[in-house]
Amino acid sequence: MFTFKKIRFLSIFTFCGLFSPLLLCAQVNTALSLDLTHPAANVSPRLYGLMTEEINYSYDGGIYGELIRNRVFRDHPEKPEHWFLIKADGDSSSINLDARHPVNETLPICLHLHVASANKSTGVANDGFWGIPVKPSTIYSGSFYALKEGSGAKSAFTVNIESTDGKIVYAMATVSGIGDKWQKFTYTLSTLPTAVPTADTRLVLRPKSTGSFYLTLVSLFPPTYNGRNNGNRRDIMQLLAAMNPSFLRLPGGNYLEGGMFSTRFDWKKTLGPIEKRPGHMGTWGYRSSDGMGLLEYLEWCEDLHMEPVLAVFAGYTLNGDYLEAGPLLKPFVDDALEEIEYVAGDTTTLWGKRRALDGHPQPFKLHYVEVGNEDGFDKSISYNGRFAQFFDAIKTKFPDIEVISTMGGKDWLGSRYPVTSRTPDIVDEHYYRNAFEMESDADHYDHYDRKGPKVFVGEWATREGSPTPNFNSALADAAWMTGMERNSDIVVMSCSAPLFVNVNPGGMQWESDLIGYNTLSSYGSPSYYAQQMFNNYRGDEVIRINAEGVPNQLQKLNHADSLAQVKPKAYPGLFYVATRNSKTGTVFLKVVNCLPTVEKVNLQLAGAASVKTGGKVIIMKAENPQDTNTITDPKKITPVSSVFNGMKKEFNYLFMPYSITVLQIETR
Ligand code: AHR
Repeated sequence: MFTFKKIRFLSIFTFCGLFSPLLLCAQVNTALSLDLTHPAANVSPRLYGLMTEEINYSYDGGIYGELIRNRVFRDHPEKPEHWFLIKADGDSSSINLDARHPVNETLPICLHLHVASANKSTGVANDGFWGIPVKPSTIYSGSFYALKEGSGAKSAFTVNIESTDGKIVYAMATVSGIGDKWQKFTYTLSTLPTAVPTADTRLVLRPKSTGSFYLTLVSLFPPTYNGRNNGNRRDIMQLLAAMNPSFLRLPGGNYLEGGMFSTRFDWKKTLGPIEKRPGHMGTWGYRSSDGMGLLEYLEWCEDLHMEPVLAVFAGYTLNGDYLEAGPLLKPFVDDALEEIEYVAGDTTTLWGKRRALDGHPQPFKLHYVEVGNEDGFDKSISYNGRFAQFFDAIKTKFPDIEVISTMGGKDWLGSRYPVTSRTPDIVDEHYYRNAFEMESDADHYDHYDRKGPKVFVGEWATREGSPTPNFNSALADAAWMTGMERNSDIVVMSCSAPLFVNVNPGGMQWESDLIGYNTLSSYGSPSYYAQQMFNNYRGDEVIRINAEGVPNQLQKLNHADSLAQVKPKAYPGLFYVATRNSKTGTVFLKVVNCLPTVEKVNLQLAGAASVKTGGKVIIMKAENPQDTNTITDPKKITPVSSVFNGMKKEFNYLFMPYSITVLQIETR
């Protein structure tokens, strides 16, 4: 057997200035013995999913493909934000918001453009979400509603994507037939193969004649994922697809609850053609177009083969307003039942029929419904009653649905008071922490009561790094995931949050978000790649590991703690979990080395009949834990695959400093 000798490789390495020979002869400090004879538990097939809400310009200015900002002129009550008059010096043309020419009740406001000059250069421009993305050989589809005052000859508009100084026109279309009745017009814009990608751009609509024009619902879409109408941005969807998520928790988060009752996620107002969607004020400081409506969420699930985890509004809003259980809450309970029917009912049901009318006759699979969000903030302690009312109604009408409670977990918020009225099938726990807190609590679920409700870790993240987490966060996230995965008999689902951030100035309301993007491109943070590694290399049963000699690390103190002479805590520096594919015998051993040293670990596969010598290794590492990916350096840190030819029933492996490693070991 091996002996433990506490030799730190890095100090020897620094001293001698040599690397590989020393690594080869380095002493083994740690042993991990995988017991393949008796799997400890089954891995939940839904362990890793996604959480989403409108925050950090996640939809408008994010995954939702719309390129025009403030398309229905309701972002500001007094001025047409993001719209500009373009005119020559001395031209007395003007723009203003107009409420006297509503298209319908959901499009009550429009832009009035008075063109005084016949020089054909006057128009209105929209600056998009930090520009309109110009890419080569791209076909954009647009539409707008327009009206010309007076009964004279019909007018025409030119529609351009052009540079912000107007000197370069990247794509151009002409739309004719604008008369004295509201009409929807469509147009197509195409860029040349030679177009150089840029977001220093604007969309400009220019009438070809003088007069008073009215415009609303001005829209422009790039090609979308799977070519969906009103669909999603391709690059961001591709990043998500690479994570293979099993579910999508929707639509929030705080966004579900709303600042007040009138600004909750009112799903019925998000259905149908976009001209029927009034939009609403979101909870993160800006208005939502509701282009990402309930059906779009579901189609997003369909496109990525995810199940929806539907959170229903539960009668509590962020301003502290709430409804006690009873008759006043009933309309909201009924609304939730109708929402479930819209998602999962067949076309013989009222709301299933409505879904079919909206273009999706096939019901969506729905197994999980969450009642509310973070109801521990509700100081009235009304959740016990509210939860019971929703729980009973859902179970009566949809007995197969598992109902998730936001209270009753062991996180700081959910444990404020227990849910005693009903036993939830699952409790939702949220953890936002720094790296020390995450790593030192990675064994959190090892000690959970197996008889209680299952756990959905519905929001979690290590929050170091902005706008997206750095590698230190990724290490801590990975350490935390070893704990969730090892305990996935009880942790049946998990999803980190927030998912997205628009990294343009003013785009972020919440720091440390998994995926960042600007107008032209997107990238995954190191934490994104850590999640990708954990989900993509995973078996269906947990393998018990007996560990010896696991090295410790010392808590890094912040300035205030140092001044207060806080004693740093010692806690593990190496984290691990193993799962196995029960059909193929492939073992996935994940080891997270948070130390600045190479860790040589003796690995034993107890009970394996045979082990294939060559196995895949996936490593993600960084020189420095503060290293990160950015919009300009999007792939600085990514996982790298190779083959390791030294696998057997017992072998030593060197885990690199600051690294996340998956060993894919083929056993029988
Ligand atoms: O993820 C950001 C916010 O954190 C969510 O909206 C809320 O549920 C939590 O407090």
